Amino acid sequence: MKLGIVGATGLVGRVMIDILEKKKFPKNELYLCASNKSVGKKFSFKGKIYNIISLHDLFLKKPNIVLFSAGSNISKEWAPKFSKIGSTVIDNSSAWRMDPTKKLIVPEINASFLEKKDKIIANPNCSTIQLVMVLFPLHKEYKIDRVVISTYQSVTGTGKKALDQLNQEKEGKIKIHKVYPYFIHQNVLPHCDSFLENGYTIEEMKLIKETKKIMNDYNIAITSTAVRVPVIGGHSESVNITFKEKPNIDNIYKILSQTKGIIVQDNPQKNIYPMPLYAHKKNEVFVGRIRKDFSLKNSINLWIVSDNLRKGAATNTIQIAEYLISKKYIC
Ligand SMILES: NC(=O)c1ccc[n+]([C@@H]2O[C@H](COP(=O)([O-])OP(=O)(O)OC[C@H]3O[C@@H](n4cnc5c(N)ncnc54)[C@H](OP(=O)(O)O)[C@@H]3O)[C@@H](O)[C@H]2O)c1
Repeated sequence: MKLGIVGATGLVGRVMIDILEKKKFPKNELYLCASNKSVGKKFSFKGKIYNIISLHDLFLKKPNIVLFSAGSNISKEWAPKFSKIGSTVIDNSSAWRMDPTKKLIVPEINASFLEKKDKIIANPNCSTIQLVMVLFPLHKEYKIDRVVISTYQSVTGTGKKALDQLNQEKEGKIKIHKVYPYFIHQNVLPHCDSFLENGYTIEEMKLIKETKKIMNDYNIAITSTAVRVPVIGGHSESVNITFKEKPNIDNIYKILSQTKGIIVQDNPQKNIYPMPLYAHKKNEVFVGRIRKDFSLKNSINLWIVSDNLRKGAATNTIQIAEYLISKKYIC
């Protein structure tokens, strides 16, 4: 088994390495790849030193499986090349997510859709993964009619340059804002990714479109506002869900408590609710503030938090890889 990681020096890539280091992942050879400026940099993995190599050199190694997290342009150019030589690509970028010929996978929900012939598999957007983890089991029970989402997204969702911007602002080293158009330290930006003609941002539309594709239901009405906050530990989401029938709150608790990958943290009397500070570096999705929306008959509110670099990216990707290996779909 030859495993390649493209974007190994990035925020997602480093978390992938960290997760793999702690796992018994079946691999005989590991290749770490980044841009040409990082070629030759050294990384330690399980006591061994690895040099960063270029995409071209990774290609020549003919890896069985390649985990891509280097942006959509790289994925669009290189994923088809790798798939043609027989590599299975799991891609973290947005390049293939809405392609009708590619599968968009959250293993707890739709891993069973995967087949041996799938050579480019898309990993959803970070804010989508934690959302569908909660929506899907509830949809199975009550059928969702409408969802209203407001996100509070960590700077780590924008990559290492954004984290640098926040840290430099905190230290008073203000140069040019490299990533966001304004200060992010001590600020809140109702702006994640670029604006579209319909007034929504690309991030908001990803949440809407990807959720429908993963849930395999295009009739759910969904609207969203995506907001960037000066937080490092993970993304938070305030979610209002309207069902087709009246939900039972105790049953909602029961369903979510019994869903693999979800941890319910909900005891307002003891100030227990999910927060990014505590979700940081954890693989689960945390949910709390579960309550009836008294303004509507069939609606509830809840609050979802997860580390976007973990379940929102690296953890989900590695779960997909593990599933493919367990099914012997990788050769
Ligand atoms: N951050 C998140 O929460 C998150 C969640 C889900 C999905 N994603 C997606 O995952 C991808 C990576 O995100 P990130 O946050 O890890 O970004 P990042 O911190 O900016 O890292 C980008 C990585 O891509 C590498 N890279 C850039 N150009 C390359 C090239 N020409 N060839 C090979 N490698 C190249 C960089 O290498 P150098 O260090 O050499 O520049 C770096 O390793 C993006 O597509 C993003 O949309 C991110």
